[in-house]
Amino acid sequence: MNIHTYEKAWLVASMVLIVGFIATITYGAVGPGIAMIDDDGGSIDPDEINDHERFGEPGVEHLGGNEYAVSVVAQAWAYTPSEIEVPANSEVTFYVTSRDVTHSFSVVGTNVNTMVIPGEVSEMTVQFDEPDEYGILCNEYCGEGHHTMEGKLNVVPEDEFDLTELSVEADDEVEAGNETTINATVENGMQDDLETTATLEIGGQTYEEDVTVPGDGSENVEFAVDTADLETGDHDWTVTVDDHEESGTLTVGNSSDGGDGDA
Ligand code: CUA
Repeated sequence: MNIHTYEKAWLVASMVLIVGFIATITYGAVGPGIAMIDDDGGSIDPDEINDHERFGEPGVEHLGGNEYAVSVVAQAWAYTPSEIEVPANSEVTFYVTSRDVTHSFSVVGTNVNTMVIPGEVSEMTVQFDEPDEYGILCNEYCGEGHHTMEGKLNVVPEDEFDLTELSVEADDEVEAGNETTINATVENGMQDDLETTATLEIGGQTYEEDVTVPGDGSENVEFAVDTADLETGDHDWTVTVDDHEESGTLTVGNSSDGGDGDA
């Protein structure tokens, strides 16, 4: 059988096209790392979000190494937390659910874009290599405030990322001559131990205490302040741990004016 030269050329051309179409579809489905959200995230009772282990306190959690989990609650018309911070070079798994109606969780400029359905948890894992700022938007019409529903995702340099929290408890006043303690609690949100120094400054004096906070734990630092070194009156104090600072005022009063401290 003799096939005309042009006929052969068209046969070859159409084969090339068919193979090309299949290749582009395969690449589109697999190549750019597109993943569908499925039911892996599980389900949840929207009325019990506040008592839920993951969503009761939504936010960023360190899982170990460069892995983080971020849980987010969507509701008309906001995300909690509204601002998320994760470090660069991290692998972040988002868990998102809704308290009321169907919303979406879309990180602009990435391929994170999922519906958020009450009763369901949308789970997706994303790699963030470089520091950047992303907007988070709701793409699902959810009522009159829909267009205002937004959040922020900040990918910060690794050395600026920090899951340490500092809280301080101190008396407002103390009688002159007595001792008082200023209690600092350092919480370490990372899984690795945190070695740092807590510093208290009061009335020109500096107290320093080294502290090792275990991974995912907290540690108390007690500063015993001897008022013998302080004059009566108000003294501002500051407790510093790394970049965290808490401050207040301690009033040293005379026992003669009933300790109300207005010396
Ligand atoms: Cu939430 Cu639109």
